[in-house]
Amino acid sequence: MANDNEKEAAASASLRFVRDGDIVGLGTGSTAVHAVRLLGEQVRAGLKIRGIPTSAATQELAASVGIPLTTLDEFQQIDVTIDGADEVDPNLRLIKGGGGALLHEKIVASASQKCVIIVDSSKQVSMLGKFPLPVEIVPFARALLAKNIAALGASVSLRMNPSGKPFITDEGHYILDCTFGQISDPESLARALEEMPGIVEHGLFIGMADVVLVGKGDKVLEIA
Ligand code: A5P
Repeated sequence: MANDNEKEAAASASLRFVRDGDIVGLGTGSTAVHAVRLLGEQVRAGLKIRGIPTSAATQELAASVGIPLTTLDEFQQIDVTIDGADEVDPNLRLIKGGGGALLHEKIVASASQKCVIIVDSSKQVSMLGKFPLPVEIVPFARALLAKNIAALGASVSLRMNPSGKPFITDEGHYILDCTFGQISDPESLARALEEMPGIVEHGLFIGMADVVLVGKGDKVLEIA
């Protein structure tokens, strides 16, 4: 079970990675929300940073708490990014995209000097794959990709909105949620997905996290 106190504790611990003058990548999701709010408090107390949000939702929140915003058009190097994850394994490999922002999240993480991941203890797993892997696709290829990803061993479903229409990402794509159960070789799966035309990005983040902060009870564990 996800735990909001653990999320907030991990978010609070992540602030020590942010320095005056930094360009900060701002993640998406309920854990990143804590980090954005806490950073907003620090900005109001005098911290000078500029944020690059990974989603429209984070952009709105960051602006509302007073964080000055910028874009990748202005800065192609981000000092530190703080973001959540859906699963974290002992090798700092992640599944992300439960909130649907994986494409911008991966672009921002790839441009970051340091990527700090904040999670509650429910996200720690020994092997990735119980959480459905989000795969962002172009709508035209939906049926073909659903078939081809299922052939890799997943049960695949198109992410829908509560209204019954397909969920549309910030870049206008669909998301296939792909349940593999256990992903014994995430690197191979990532390569297989990257070879399929029509896949824009997938939620396996490998070699991207530098530090994972795990809220666990009243402690925060640091895995690096
Ligand atoms: C957003 O697209 C995701 O990658 C989130 O970072 C991830 O889903 C974690 O979200 P929570 O912090 O809400 O669990």
